[in-house]
Amino acid sequence: MKRGLRSRLAQYGDDEFSLFLRRGFLKAAGHDDEALTRPIVGILSTASDFNPCHGTAPKLAEAVRQGVLSAGGLAFVFPTISLQESFAFPTSMLWRNLMAMDVEAMLTSLPMDSVVLIGGCDKTIPAELMGALSADMPSIVLPVGPMLAGRFEGGRLGACTDCRRLWAEFRGGRLSETDLNRAHEQLMPTSGTCMVMGTATTMATIAETLGFTLAGAATAPAVSAERMRIATATGRRAAEMAKTGTPRPSELLTKTSLRNASVILQAISGSTNALVHLAAIAGRAGLDFDLAAFDRIGRETPVLVNLKPAGAYFAEDFHAAGGVPALWRRLKDRLDLATKTVSNETLGGIVARWPAYVDDEVIRPLNRPVVASEAIAILSGNLAPGGAAIKLSAATKELTTHEGPALVFDSLEDLARRIDDSTLPVTPDHCLVLRNVGPIGAPGMPEAGALPIPKKLAEKGVKDMVRISDARMSGTAFGTVVLHVTPEAAAGGPLALVKDGDRIRLDAKARRLDLLVDDAELAARRKLWSPPKKPVRGYERLYVDHVSQANLGCDFDFLVKHPAL
Ligand code: FES
Repeated sequence: MKRGLRSRLAQYGDDEFSLFLRRGFLKAAGHDDEALTRPIVGILSTASDFNPCHGTAPKLAEAVRQGVLSAGGLAFVFPTISLQESFAFPTSMLWRNLMAMDVEAMLTSLPMDSVVLIGGCDKTIPAELMGALSADMPSIVLPVGPMLAGRFEGGRLGACTDCRRLWAEFRGGRLSETDLNRAHEQLMPTSGTCMVMGTATTMATIAETLGFTLAGAATAPAVSAERMRIATATGRRAAEMAKTGTPRPSELLTKTSLRNASVILQAISGSTNALVHLAAIAGRAGLDFDLAAFDRIGRETPVLVNLKPAGAYFAEDFHAAGGVPALWRRLKDRLDLATKTVSNETLGGIVARWPAYVDDEVIRPLNRPVVASEAIAILSGNLAPGGAAIKLSAATKELTTHEGPALVFDSLEDLARRIDDSTLPVTPDHCLVLRNVGPIGAPGMPEAGALPIPKKLAEKGVKDMVRISDARMSGTAFGTVVLHVTPEAAAGGPLALVKDGDRIRLDAKARRLDLLVDDAELAARRKLWSPPKKPVRGYERLYVDHVSQANLGCDFDFLVKHPAL
């Protein structure tokens, strides 16, 4: 197989001419013919002024380049789509698959022998892993790392758990606008990803557990010198991978490493978004992410990592407490430590050499967990025949068994129009239902599942209610929120048939979500249902025509690895 600059030549029907041209353009970039002999490492940069979470990406890319050069490789930095949660309309999830396609296209069309994937903000690492698995090029993930926690009036603040908490206090009239604005200055105090156990920290932790990063790379703060050293070491390792052509992503992403990821996702009380991303990542390797097995694992896995929103600390504390390898050590009897990583070490090999120190308050021992078990549960029932998810560790325990009348919002617009209406017929007993916000319905399945508490109730001090939707929820959010209801309403799922006043029963212990309406009535309602109109053109049309449901990862059907391949 051709390597380095001789690989993937532009097709003119004369390879020597193609190489002649390429060498000429390289000279224009200041390289000489010696470059032809070196292995090439691509450095995928997601730097963008629209992505403040990745503000350090250019510096990281340069540190990676130094590592590559010192190990005898040649480094090329190149851009891909960059997605930041609050800058991507209508939701970054709509564009995750486009970014994954972009990553795959660049990896399969540019002359490189290995690649460093710089990512971090929620959808970026999943998209990079999806693209890298489809390209199956030796790949190493470099998370940009988490922000430092903010400091405010003797306490600490973290994006975006405290953004939500403070906003809810403000909506409920318990926090003045002046105080809200003062706290605002400290919510995102540095570059880096959200520093609670949101989707970014979750996916970085999972990438490390799947073996796609160097040890410690998930949690070192974005603005630390250690992060820069990890970047340099990542470059050195990537140059070695470019020489040997191994390990490939398909060697790391296995049934066993996915099972390890399930244990860790439960033990960190991670973002429910990881369920969707893991299903998509697994699909790119021709594997299933088994939600039933994930639920079983959750029943016996304690939450050990004491980070917000389920706990009290921040990502920098997780790192100082020992980081992900310290967590593996705590869970050594529940993980398969023989799985391999990009460094060619096994998880067990890393655990054996990792410093013994652990901060027991942040990474709790098995006999003193943050939550005994069941961080995330998978529900079924006649309202969610294809499944639904609930983050029990962020829910109000008394509400996880609840029966109440439905109050239905048909869309995000309907929700925005009515939720603060003082005449809204709502009580704390109601189950708030939001539909047509799934993969097809929104489209893109926005993080709208944690519906705001209606203002008239928030002002009376109501902080949580049962909320049910086909949307997702930010990993930084909290509440008794049933998500990812499958099939979604826009695909004709039973959620489309719910009417105001219908009784809904949530029984999380029994893993049930049921609509207490008889089958004949539901059949009559179904006859009157019609699917929503599709977008008429462009990427959104491609999206709704090909996106899978949440339980399968919301990937495009034509990108999942075909069994014959
Ligand atoms: Fe980028 Fe939270 S918005 S990680």
